[in-house]
Amino acid sequence: MANANEKKIILTGDRPTGKLHIGHYVGSLRNRVALQNSGDYETFIMIADMQALTDNARDPEKIRKSLTEVTLDYLAVGIDPKKSTILVQSQIPALNELTMIYLNLVSLARLERNPTVKSEISQKGFGQSIPAGFLTYPVSQTADITAFKATTVPVGDDQEPMLEQARELVRSFNGAYHKDILVEPEGVFPPKGEGRIPGLDGNAKMSKSLGNAIYLSDDADTVTKKVMSMYTDPEHIKVSDPGHVEGNTVFTYLDIFDPDKAHVADLKAQYQAGGLGDVKIKRYLNEVLEATLAPIRKRRAEYAANLDYVYKVLEDGSAHANEVANKTLQEVRDAMGINYFTQR
Ligand code: TRP
Repeated sequence: MANANEKKIILTGDRPTGKLHIGHYVGSLRNRVALQNSGDYETFIMIADMQALTDNARDPEKIRKSLTEVTLDYLAVGIDPKKSTILVQSQIPALNELTMIYLNLVSLARLERNPTVKSEISQKGFGQSIPAGFLTYPVSQTADITAFKATTVPVGDDQEPMLEQARELVRSFNGAYHKDILVEPEGVFPPKGEGRIPGLDGNAKMSKSLGNAIYLSDDADTVTKKVMSMYTDPEHIKVSDPGHVEGNTVFTYLDIFDPDKAHVADLKAQYQAGGLGDVKIKRYLNEVLEATLAPIRKRRAEYAANLDYVYKVLEDGSAHANEVANKTLQEVRDAMGINYFTQR
């Protein structure tokens, strides 16, 4: 590391609106663990509870409960508090102040154009009552990213428009106040076709609201039941019928989770020729999933038995995050000349 400005910094996060599922694992968690372990980055992982409140203002209890669940999921998959700072967004006051400052550098029209926000608004059925905080959450997300001077933001592909807006805001800020204080972040997205796992029902998206998810916290029996109920090929009626593997969720999962690619290719050939039953292939998938999920589940249970430790991780992580974010905030205020009492 030649100088501090060359250090690569990761900031990423999740909204705590429920437990995390294997879609999160495939889309981001496993990649974060790899980046964390590469040793090439300083890593901040944020539980975005303020952002979760933008569309859950009347249900803070859900967010409160999810805080520890999400932390347990993190610890269980191998996010290591010795290597990554895990922080809670609402415990970092500087983020709110940065948000207020940035809000003046973006137009309402620009906010309304963000395609991810646009589709979320129609999905959530806000009608004419879009919470102002919801429309502006990409600005708060820019505060998250810039407070830690993140260079690198590993996220799902739905977050591309957020990164675009963050970069624009960074340029606006640095331009408006003639200082290179804020850092333009780069998004890191999963390779095409690898970051997304369909739901159990074959829906392109796995999500809690669709009820088609396997959670990292599901016990072995629950996972088996879910796997046995999975969507396969509706035209594959009898075992002897030739079946389709394209769009067949069981094979999509095998492609993602089975390290034995040659065996998967074999099974596909058998299935397409006819003679391989859905029950048999699902049992095999269940074993493959267990190889990944069993150790995660075991670690999760260990941490769950020690919630004091879990809260300590969040408290220590947030304390460190406050130091970093406060420093950035002071630089920002200095650049704007609004630190009146120290800048006379
Ligand atoms: N919007 C992100 C998501 O829904 C969560 C998030 C909040 C985030 N703040 C962030 C991600 C900052 C990356 C950087 O997944």
